[in-house]
Amino acid sequence: MALIEVDKQTCTRCGACAAVCPGGFFIFRKGRYPRPIPAIQEFCLRCGHCVAVCPADSLDHREIPLAQCPPIEPSLKVTFEQFAQLARSRRSIRAYKDKKVPREEITRLIDVARGAPTGHNAQTVRWLVFDDRGEISRLSEIGADWMRWSVENKKGMVQFLEGVLKRQETGYDEFLRSAPAIVVAYAEKGNPIAFYDCVIALTYLELAAGTAGLGCCWAGLLQSAATGFPPMMEVLAIPEGHVPCGCMMLGYPRYGYRRSPRRQPARIAWRP
Ligand SMILES: Cc1cc2nc3c(=O)[nH]c(=O)nc-3n(C[C@H](O)[C@H](O)[C@H](O)COP(=O)(O)O)c2cc1C
Ligand code: SF4
Ligand code: SF4
Repeated sequence: MALIEVDKQTCTRCGACAAVCPGGFFIFRKGRYPRPIPAIQEFCLRCGHCVAVCPADSLDHREIPLAQCPPIEPSLKVTFEQFAQLARSRRSIRAYKDKKVPREEITRLIDVARGAPTGHNAQTVRWLVFDDRGEISRLSEIGADWMRWSVENKKGMVQFLEGVLKRQETGYDEFLRSAPAIVVAYAEKGNPIAFYDCVIALTYLELAAGTAGLGCCWAGLLQSAATGFPPMMEVLAIPEGHVPCGCMMLGYPRYGYRRSPRRQPARIAWRP
């Protein structure tokens, strides 16, 4: 089949496919059938908007087949209030149960995070997961070495790192909070948009975790060590040509929260 095919038997000539296409890759005139531009194969983002928006299931895409685009289930629609509570009740979890997170559960969360937007629909996000207690302890030990090195060499937030290191040395794992799993999102080096893609995908994962009885906390210290401390880079072993863009702790929260803490009012500038 051609990259895009329109079934003229069912197409209502509504023009929605042409209107939502990010690059305007359809030629559409009122009352006529939409036609992909001749260079569609080269330019198409493979975003699937044309397939997903068609009210008559009349448009198929060779690489995003209609049959593989599940319908949106109206009964599962989330209300604003439900989403607002999910977003506001999300907390950075720093006390985890000593309980392994099944790999199927982590896979389920990553599968949701796959739905996050990516610049130019490049879908560049890659995932690395640590779920072995010994391996995670090793990351924390290397994290402590990184903090010692940073303090000695006066790199970064020295005073802050001194405090964390002091507590880490008492046996409390402030570096990774003894989380039973660590999720790292990484992407190609030198692609500035890929960094945002990873951060957005991890944000999706964190929100999804909250609906599955799990909790997360951004591992900013690990992210810093992972990008500037060779022993940490070695143990992460991110494939050549790629860089870690965000690290997340994951596990079952030891405590539930009863309230959403107050946050500052939004500072919005309206123009004009
Ligand atoms: C960091 C980032 C930057 C983006 N910039 C643009 C943009 O400038 N213009 C645009 O039309 N879409 C932009 N997008 C949207 C992507 O093209 C879109 O997420 C992708 O095509 C997948 O479609 P979806 O979000 O509907 O799944 C951006 C997305 C991300 C994550
Ligand atoms: S898949 Fe996206 S970019 Fe390609 S033709 Fe359809 S809407 Fe346009
Ligand atoms: S969205 Fe579907 S029905 Fe509407 S013009 Fe495009 S192919 Fe035809």
